Amino acid sequence: MNDSYFVTGALGCIGAWVVRQLVERGDRPVVFDLGGDARRLRDLLSADGMARVQFVAGDITDLDACKSAVAACKPRAIIHLAGLQVPFCRQDPALGARVNVLGTIHVFEAALAAGVARVVYASSAAVFGPSEDDGTAVSESVATAPVTHYGVYKQANEGTARIYWLEKKLASVGLRPLTVYGVGRDQGMTSGPTSAMKAAVLGRPFHIGFSGPTDFHYVGDTAAAFVACADGGPPGASVYNLHGETVDVAEVVRAIEAECPAVRGLITVSGPRIPIPPHLDDQAIRAAYPQLPHTQLAVGVRATVRRFRELQAAGTLDVRDLPTT
Ligand SMILES: NC(=O)c1ccc[n+]([C@@H]2O[C@H](COP(=O)([O-])OP(=O)(O)OC[C@H]3O[C@@H](n4cnc5c(N)ncnc54)[C@H](O)[C@@H]3O)[C@@H](O)[C@H]2O)c1
Repeated sequence: MNDSYFVTGALGCIGAWVVRQLVERGDRPVVFDLGGDARRLRDLLSADGMARVQFVAGDITDLDACKSAVAACKPRAIIHLAGLQVPFCRQDPALGARVNVLGTIHVFEAALAAGVARVVYASSAAVFGPSEDDGTAVSESVATAPVTHYGVYKQANEGTARIYWLEKKLASVGLRPLTVYGVGRDQGMTSGPTSAMKAAVLGRPFHIGFSGPTDFHYVGDTAAAFVACADGGPPGASVYNLHGETVDVAEVVRAIEAECPAVRGLITVSGPRIPIPPHLDDQAIRAAYPQLPHTQLAVGVRATVRRFRELQAAGTLDVRDLPTT
């Protein structure tokens, strides 16, 4: 392969893993992001790998910037990950709407103008409302009823994608992860478990501020789903849930303690449950893309802890998401 992929928000957690997977298979990722720190990419890529990434500093709220960057790239597909997460949308709903809703429209407009055939974008399980915790897996046919601005914006984006298919025949896939974890996950409502893995490597205490079960998706698997959907699939405007492993946060803590026995008892958990059904049904995406990887939680935690240890040994572990001691 030697295709270009235009990846928005690729300085973020999922984006960094998407870029790594594209580089590993010989493709050319073009990173479109605000232009801040590329540390999440450096945590995953060698210097050689970094040299194969093209960076464009730009804001998806700027339609002209989006259009000219996509036109210059002539990508095979766009993977659209730029967005503000739940706490940032809560803090500033107007900015959240500009980035998450208007920004997504700009990405579709840029795709149309440049003749790009597919857009894969990050929706979220936050489109669902809270559910009874009866273990039922929630499929895409369950009605959406978000309880955050962020969830409403993601719901709007799914509608936007559907209209671009109906009116312009621009194909798209929206993916709905819930709690992504792994190297690079250092901000957002559900980033606590990954920060706890980092704290454990340093032998520091950490408090995870939410409790109960949620659907943990290993970031390598999340990225693989975005890449597979960018490569092809059924026509139309598809929307798929992603499912990893549904476990209680306390079980993740046990998995961390198994890797870092020295911190036994130092990682604590309390706080509200995430107001999103904890178990997503992913049969639809597994049928459409049967080769997607599925990393067991224990394996994902081990891989994350190992990489954090390597970064610590190299003196490059970023600890800004941890409380100061
Ligand atoms: N991480 C999760 O658990 C999770 C779950 C469901 C959905 N999602 C969605 O997946 C996407 C990626 O998530 P992530 O965890 O990588 O997020 P992240 O916060 O780590 O990264 C988001 C990136 O978007 C960029 N960005 C923000 N505003 C921008 C703008 N105006 N123009 C260009 N770039 C901008 C940021 O600079 C950042 O690099 C987001 O849309 C998020 O809502 C994430």
